[in-house]
Amino acid sequence: MSVIGDPRLETLLAGLHARSDAQAAAMRAFDADRTDEVQPLSPKEARAFLRDKLVALDPDKAEFCYQLCRASNARRIVEIGTSFGVSTLYLAAAIRDNIRAGGGSGVVIGTEYEPNKAAAARAHFEQAGLSQFIDLREGDLRQTLKEIDGPVDFMLMDIWITMARPALELVTPHLRPGAIVIADNTRQYRNEYSDYFAFLEAQGFRTMTLPFDGGLELSVLDR
Ligand SMILES: C[S@@+](CC[C@H](N)C(=O)[O-])C[C@H]1O[C@@H](n2cnc3c(N)ncnc32)[C@H](O)[C@@H]1O
Repeated sequence: MSVIGDPRLETLLAGLHARSDAQAAAMRAFDADRTDEVQPLSPKEARAFLRDKLVALDPDKAEFCYQLCRASNARRIVEIGTSFGVSTLYLAAAIRDNIRAGGGSGVVIGTEYEPNKAAAARAHFEQAGLSQFIDLREGDLRQTLKEIDGPVDFMLMDIWITMARPALELVTPHLRPGAIVIADNTRQYRNEYSDYFAFLEAQGFRTMTLPFDGGLELSVLDR
């Protein structure tokens, strides 16, 4: 049973997760078929390969983010990496439900640089009736996140890992004291995240790696 409690949204999400899972299986098979003699993909080839891939956040992690946003009554959320909008839908549902419960307003700021993914995400937002809670910023996040109205209550980091630290550097000045930052797969890619962890430590975040698949980092800004 989902914590979302919205049958229309849950049906949409189930279909998107199934599509993402099928692609992930195909991606694993593609990787397994590539022998050591094969040249690794260039950055351009890798980007082209990933252009139609959802790479969606796992449902349990996404539901956990929904719960955190409800528990903290989050009103401004920044999502690093929107893709086809799966995790965005959970975050926007939390904003909608926080407003229903307590009035006021709220927004999820999404980020995506692939135009086809952004277009698909917008269609999913419409389908779920959640567009009004989402400000999807198209383009490279190092440009699109230069302006953020604070305070930011919650941030989801679900991006190619080299972009995690630059994104956190941009958003940290706008985080409210006690803001929550979630990052995916931090146990599986601990070494690749080393510059991200160094920044967390330098900025005074308290952080723990939760036992979701691959590890999910829960960091709280201590200021
Ligand atoms: C792991 S996927 C996000 C999945 C999404 N959170 C979900 O649950 O459906 C990461 C996304 O970040 C996008 N991306 C990568 N680098 C980016 C950049 N520099 N600026 C904006 N988007 C970027 C990719 O195109 C990809 O769609």
